[in-house]
Amino acid sequence: MVYKEVYLAAQNDPEAFWMQQARKIDWVRPPSKALFDENAPLYEWFADGMVNTCWNAVDRHVEAGRGDQPAIIHDSPVTQSQATLTFRELQEATARLAGALQAKGVTKGDRVIIYMPMVAEALVAMLACARIGAVHCVVFGGFAAHELATRINDCAPKAIIAASCGIEPGRVVRYKPLLDAAIQQSGQKPEFCVILQREQETAELIPGRDHDWHEFQTGTPLADCVPVAGNDPLYILYTSGTTGQPKGVVRHNGGHLVALNWSMKNIYNIEAGDVFWAASDVGWVVGHSYICYAPLIAGATTIVFEGKPVGTPDAGTFWRVIQDHKVKSFFTAPTAIRAVKRDDPQGEFIGKYDLSNLQAVFLAGERADPDTIQWLEDRLHLPVIDHWWQTETAWAIAASPFGIEKMPIRKGSPSVAMPGYEVHILDEGGNPVAPGTLGAIAIKLPLPPGTLPTLWNAEARYLKSYLDHFPGYYETGDAGYVDEDGYLYIMARTDDVINVAGHRLSTGAMEEVLSSHPDVAECAVIGVADSLKGQSPLGFLCLKKGVTTSDEQIVKDVVRMVRDTIGPVAAFKSAVVVDRLPKTRSGKILRATMAKIADGEEFKTPATIDDPAILDEIGEALQTVGYPQKS
Ligand code: COA
Ligand code: AMP
Repeated sequence: MVYKEVYLAAQNDPEAFWMQQARKIDWVRPPSKALFDENAPLYEWFADGMVNTCWNAVDRHVEAGRGDQPAIIHDSPVTQSQATLTFRELQEATARLAGALQAKGVTKGDRVIIYMPMVAEALVAMLACARIGAVHCVVFGGFAAHELATRINDCAPKAIIAASCGIEPGRVVRYKPLLDAAIQQSGQKPEFCVILQREQETAELIPGRDHDWHEFQTGTPLADCVPVAGNDPLYILYTSGTTGQPKGVVRHNGGHLVALNWSMKNIYNIEAGDVFWAASDVGWVVGHSYICYAPLIAGATTIVFEGKPVGTPDAGTFWRVIQDHKVKSFFTAPTAIRAVKRDDPQGEFIGKYDLSNLQAVFLAGERADPDTIQWLEDRLHLPVIDHWWQTETAWAIAASPFGIEKMPIRKGSPSVAMPGYEVHILDEGGNPVAPGTLGAIAIKLPLPPGTLPTLWNAEARYLKSYLDHFPGYYETGDAGYVDEDGYLYIMARTDDVINVAGHRLSTGAMEEVLSSHPDVAECAVIGVADSLKGQSPLGFLCLKKGVTTSDEQIVKDVVRMVRDTIGPVAAFKSAVVVDRLPKTRSGKILRATMAKIADGEEFKTPATIDDPAILDEIGEALQTVGYPQKS
């Protein structure tokens, strides 16, 4: 079949299409039907099936004779170590940790926060939770204590599993002080913590609350896989929204299994026994779907890479890993390729490695600029496939489905909608616009299996954030257009979310931090174009009358405050003091116009602006901090 036929099959008879895909999953009790639409516009998939995600990702492959095949390869240039876990070893490791968690009272539906760097144990912890029906919530290591505390408060975990440290180039990131501070700040206290002590840092354990990873698992029985319902949550993953309060995206077991299994073969062309590598982090959705779950569900080998695209030790790292582990499909963010290109403009490292197993490179997480794609294609002579998705969806909304058909790529476009996604471009009034016209990107409900059914403990927010604006549609928060042939072009966000080095961040959250500075009366944060990271945040500060502290000191203060409150990953490095902010007559700050001025783009003075002269002041202030940048 070609792409078009597959897409139409899913569109014309979604029930038959997804039930057929569901047969590729081991169910304890098969679902009676695919879509549960009784509570529309809230939809669920495979709700009455009984299943276990860990069984499907691990145990069934051992049963099928893949016990000795590598399941996880940990490749860590920052610790100069490598290790492999076979499916059999992974089964034992997850059953052991799951058994120890059970022995401490963790049971189906309990939440467990996982705060770990890129070590194989992070996947073991995720799978161990899945094994006993506990709901994991992985928190990215680059977040500060406050962000961790917000998540502890929201999901009220029974336990937290953490490591003593993560390793960033040139520094050891001590996790334990961050964890202790977060628990202290939080109103919800976990009953216990399990700490993986790494040799780079031995954390001090709090007696009675903290347990050493190894001792914790000694002498407890191995746990079997606990059947859960198709609509029981597998995990919660918090992502940035418009405010400082992150959104807890809920993932159900059944639809996630079916959709991810479909995606491995049809999008990435990966089958059991192949090696797949997503160079991301377990703290992000890419890490959940394509470092942990999907490759393992498909019986493939996954790589847990603890390093950076450059500097660990050089811009050849990606190619070395692909060679050493015979990677067949590779997934990374465009920003990582831009970093490689910056350090190795001619791509000389590429020629030093045997990349004969590699069939394609997939890019996502931010817009893939055509120059970056071209640079890579010219050097690898392989398809470089941009694809578009979100934390909310867990798998690609649009892609070129490499496992179905080698479709022509149009640079600047993540290609076409995947089965189950009916993508529309709408104007402000919710009417479809003509091809080539920019609008809000919305997806006709229901979304396909695997996508979010709701937000954790926040159904009203789910409806308000995604479903209310365009009734009958899911609002993606992205703006773009579609061409005559159905190729999508994702151009910008319609909300206050920015994308820094493939990391999704909320300018609203940063503004909350800036406005807590005692000298700041008002502020705004925008995303400005950055040739490496795609975007970087820039703050504007209006100070209170009579402030005597120097502007320089206040800027330094807020930079430190964002790092301490949100974390280094926010990459908030600069701010500028201005007298006033441009606003509409109704008081809305014109962030998009400010971003255009900073990027040196043409802009129309908004008709609703209160005082157009402020835009000149903003332009002058931006020049003092080097914007627009000279290309
Ligand atoms: N734990 C602790 N700190 C972290 C961290 C983690 N897991 N990840 C990043 N940080 C820190 C970095 O050390 C850096 O700190 P610094 O300000 O002290 O230098 C800061 O957060 C910003 O990090 P980053 O945005 O990664 O910038 P960078 O300059 O260190 O590296 C790239 C730039 C492009 C090489 C890097 O961002 C990258 O590899 N990006 C790919 C992202 C990706 O895979 N995204 C997932 C979507 S698919
Ligand atoms: P996250 O939820 O962190 O995966 O971020 C999702 C957001 O990243 C999307 O809503 C887009 O704004 C952006 N994004 C992800 N992939 C792409 C892509 N291929 N092209 C353009 N933007 C993308």
